[in-house]
Amino acid sequence: MTPSQRARYLKTGGILAFIVLLLFLLTPSEKRGFSNIAGGYSGGQTAIDPTISTDKCTKSYHPSKPLIQYALMIDAGSTGSRIHVYRFNNCGPTPELENEIFKMTEPKAGGAGLSSYKADAEGAAMSLDPLLEVAMHTVPDKLKPCSPIAVKATAGLRLLGPEMSSKILAAVRTRLETVYPFPVVADEKGGVQIMDGKDEGVYAWITTNYLLGKIGGPDETPTAAVFDLGGGSTQIVFQPTFKSPSGGMPDTLAEGDHKYNLSFGGRDFTLYQHSHLGYGLMSAREAMHKIVLDAQLEEHPTDHTWLGEPIINPCVASGMSREVEVKLGESNPLGASIKVNMTGPPEGSPAQCRGVAEKILKKDAECKLAPCSFNGVHQPSLDKTFSREDVYIFSYFFDRTQPLGMPESFTLKELKDLTAKVCEGESGWGIFGSVEGALAELKDRPEWCMDLNFMFTLLHTGYEMPMDREVRIAKKIKGNELGWCLGASLPLLSQESGWKCRIKEIS
Ligand SMILES: *[C@@H]1O[C@H](CO)[C@@H](O)[C@H](O)[C@H]1NC(C)=O
Ligand SMILES: *[C@@H]1O[C@H](CO)[C@@H](O)[C@H](O)[C@H]1NC(C)=O
Repeated sequence: MTPSQRARYLKTGGILAFIVLLLFLLTPSEKRGFSNIAGGYSGGQTAIDPTISTDKCTKSYHPSKPLIQYALMIDAGSTGSRIHVYRFNNCGPTPELENEIFKMTEPKAGGAGLSSYKADAEGAAMSLDPLLEVAMHTVPDKLKPCSPIAVKATAGLRLLGPEMSSKILAAVRTRLETVYPFPVVADEKGGVQIMDGKDEGVYAWITTNYLLGKIGGPDETPTAAVFDLGGGSTQIVFQPTFKSPSGGMPDTLAEGDHKYNLSFGGRDFTLYQHSHLGYGLMSAREAMHKIVLDAQLEEHPTDHTWLGEPIINPCVASGMSREVEVKLGESNPLGASIKVNMTGPPEGSPAQCRGVAEKILKKDAECKLAPCSFNGVHQPSLDKTFSREDVYIFSYFFDRTQPLGMPESFTLKELKDLTAKVCEGESGWGIFGSVEGALAELKDRPEWCMDLNFMFTLLHTGYEMPMDREVRIAKKIKGNELGWCLGASLPLLSQESGWKCRIKEIS
C-alpha cells in the first residue's frame, strides 16, 4: 500500500465513521437501545424515556395519539391567576389523568388578577410569566410543541370594560405565542377569553363525571348532578332523563338558555344548567338579614329608637350575636345602610329561620315556562327526571357540613336535623364534642345557623329535592380538586379543539 493509498483509506474510513456518528446522533434517543437509568427498564430493543413514558402501559391505545399528553390551563381570577399543568396517559380509550401541578401568582397589593393591571396590558401579560416558568419546567421539551394552553378569565375582567379587557387578552395571547413554545388554543375555540358563566358550571360537571368515570369512557352509567354554592351565585347542572310517554311530562328538555348541548368523549349530552345570581351564600346572608330587619321596620314604622337595641334574629344560634351592616338602598331616610346587633332567640328557632330563607327564594314569582324551581326559573323536576342518580354538592355546601362531622353522603333530613342542633346554641352542641374543631367553629361563627338553614331550604324548597334524597359532599375525587379547570382542559387533548403542534418552530 502506497502512502497515498493509505491516506485515501484513512480519509474514507474517517468519512464513514463520521456518517455513522451522525446517524447515531440524529436517531431519537428512545430508539437507541440504551437502558435508561432513571427509567430503570429498557423494554428489550427500545429504551424508555421516563419523561414521556408511564408505568401504566408501554404504548398508546390510539395509534394517532401520543402515549403522554399535557394540557395547560390558566385560571385568571379576580384575586390572582393560577396555572394547572395536567399530565395524561393514553393507555386506554379515555385519557387518564396522572398528575396535576398547580401554581398561583404571588399576592400583591390591590390583587394580583389580570384586572389589577388596569391600563397596563403588557404588565398584565407579563404577570403570568412565573406561572409559565412552572410549565416550562414540568412539560418535557419534546412534548412542549404539542401541549396546548388556554387562558380563561372569570367575570372580574369584564369590569374593566370591553376595550381594556380585550387589550389585555390580546397582550396575553401575543406573549404566549412569542415567548413560549406551547400552542395557544384558537380564540373561536375559547383559547384566551372571558369564560361564560354557563361554561363554568358545565366544565365542573365534566370534571366531576370524568373523575367518577361516568363520561369519556366505555361506562355509560347515569351521570351525576352537580350543585355548586359560591359567595355570589349558586349553580345547578344535571342531565335530565325523560321517559316518554309519561303522564303529562314533556319527553325532551324545553329549548332555552338553560339547555346545553355537550359533545364529550364521542357522546352527546343534553344538560340542564342554571346559575342563580344573588343566591350565593354571602348574598343570601345579606338578603336574609334584610328580611328580618324589614319585618321590624314594618312593625315599628315611626319610632326607631329600637334600632340601637339588639334585634332578635331566628337565624342566629341561641346565645350568639353579630353586628351586621344591612343595606337599605340610597333613598332610605335611615341611610343607605345601617349597623344593627342581630341576636339569637332564647331558644333555637330553625323553622322560623327557614321561613326567612323561603322568602328570599321567591317561590311565588311568575313562572313563564313551567315547571320552575324558584325565582321564576325553569327547571325540570328533579323528582321526575333525576330521581335516583348521584347528587354532588360542593364549595360552601362542603365547607359548612364537613367540619361539623357530616359523612360523605347524607339525606336532606339529616341536614335538617343538623341545622336544628346548630341553631339550639351551646345547649345543643354536646354532640359536636367528639368532632375535632367543630365547637371552636360553631362558637366563632354566629352565622352557622343561618348558613345551614339557607342550604337546606335551597335544596329542599328551592330545587324541590325530597327529604329522603341522599346528597354527597366532596372537595376532591381520587385526589383531584373539583372545579371547572380540569373539565375545561380535557377537551383540549383533541386537536379538534383548535390547536396544532408547533413543529416548524423547533426544527
Ligand atoms: C341542541 O341540539 C338540538 C338537536 O340536537 C337542537 O335542536 C338545539 O337547537 C340545540 N340547542 C342549543 C341550545 O344549541
Ligand atoms: C349585641 O347585644 C348584646 C346585648 O346587649 C350584647 O351582649 C352583644 O355583645 C352584642 N353583640 C355584638 C356583636 O355587638
